[in-house]
Amino acid sequence: MNMTIQDATPADLPGILVIYNDAVLNTTAIWNETLVNLANRQAWLAERNAAGFPVLVARNAAGEVLGYASYGTWRSIEGFRHTVEHSVYVRSDQRGQGLGPLLMQALIERAQAAGLHMMVAAIESGNAASIRLHERLGFIISGQMPQVGCKFGHWLDLTLMQLTLNPGAEPPIA
Ligand SMILES: CC(C)(COP(=O)(O)OP(=O)(O)OC[C@H]1O[C@@H](n2cnc3c(N)ncnc32)[C@H](O)[C@@H]1OP(=O)(O)O)[C@@H](O)C(=O)NCCC(=O)NCCS
Repeated sequence: MNMTIQDATPADLPGILVIYNDAVLNTTAIWNETLVNLANRQAWLAERNAAGFPVLVARNAAGEVLGYASYGTWRSIEGFRHTVEHSVYVRSDQRGQGLGPLLMQALIERAQAAGLHMMVAAIESGNAASIRLHERLGFIISGQMPQVGCKFGHWLDLTLMQLTLNPGAEPPIA
């Protein structure tokens, strides 16, 4: 497949919006039942860019968005600043071809280059494809939280996974 992974630009946002809203409508990957509009995704990209966080998109030769991945603040208190939480989405007709792992590999490299220490994934416990994908990338399961969410009339369980980006790194003094 002729595919590139690059930083998202505003021109990618309509494609990102379609993928995001498909996940809202049809999956428990995101625990949100309200569709968003383009302005919402514009604000999200602007906020990620302003904070220096990457938003990566996989595009085909025609420039269509096939998937995207990004990370942001995990918890806003200062002491958590070396940890980020990410998300990864592949367009429904493009799954099972290895795009998710490629996006994640690129995102992990960006996090390592940024000097971050830990990457956290918060995954719906029934999402076996995502849990396997993260295990293959070296993430370990570090938490199981039963019934902390709900969607489509069901309680949802959360599996927390984490990856050490710079094993052995000393914590900063200040
Ligand atoms: C989870 C996700 C990112 C994986 O991306 P991907 O590009 O499909 O990853 P892979 O190609 O490595 O496939 C992962 C697994 O999904 C299977 N799969 C999922 N959907 C598939 C489809 N439509 N067709 C074929 N295989 C599919 C693959 O066979 C593979 O199975 P395996 O783990 O037994 O090998 C993607 O399925 C997705 O976007 N899902 C919806 C959003 C989501 O769950 N995001 C993660 C939130 S934490």
